[in-house]
Amino acid sequence: MKFFIDSANIDEIREAASLGIVDGVTTNPTLLAKEQGKPQDIFKQICEIVDGPVNAEVISLDWQGIVEEGRELAKIHSNIVIKIPMTKDGLKAVKVFASEGIKTNVTLIFSPIQALMAARAGATFVCPFVGRLDDITQDGMELIAQIKQIFDNYMLDTEIIVASIRHPMHVVESAMIGADIATIPFAVVEKMIKHPLTDIGIERFLADWEKVQKK
Ligand code: E4P
Repeated sequence: MKFFIDSANIDEIREAASLGIVDGVTTNPTLLAKEQGKPQDIFKQICEIVDGPVNAEVISLDWQGIVEEGRELAKIHSNIVIKIPMTKDGLKAVKVFASEGIKTNVTLIFSPIQALMAARAGATFVCPFVGRLDDITQDGMELIAQIKQIFDNYMLDTEIIVASIRHPMHVVESAMIGADIATIPFAVVEKMIKHPLTDIGIERFLADWEKVQKK
């Protein structure tokens, strides 16, 4: 499974990339609102750090506006993927982008039928949100399993990006199901590295090494 970093923070993205685990980046307006600078400049900087899909979300809601905005974003760098909310106009725009060879990510997916519609329209990626479903006591991971089965049934090329990840178990379960990508906040990446037995093990080795030195 590939890892994307779910962030618009340049320091976080640089740090995650230095771990050798980052295949791409997802951003959204909420993540961009936390950062200084214009979104276009942030996207440019991200593309210089990560050689992989960099998701930039459109704000327009009508399909002509989405297409116009997306074409401008696509000019920033060849790795830019146009992130489009799952709506009727969003699907129309996906169809246009697919015919122009511009990659798209249909976001805010909360049902398997939305994912199938997006894939049929020509989306490169779909972004089902597991955490936000869990928040309202619906099983987010069940949605991933359903989408995976449907895409496998019909050999659809659209890749599943598991989004709205809240903790390492979401990543483990995504990998068990066989999702293509997990987009992970940096705080969760840090948790994924840690294990208390690793820390205890290091402590013990260092304490024993002290004894070796005293010999
Ligand atoms: C990613 O593309 C999504 O925008 C993101 O994972 C949403 O996460 P949230 O539900 O924590 O805001």
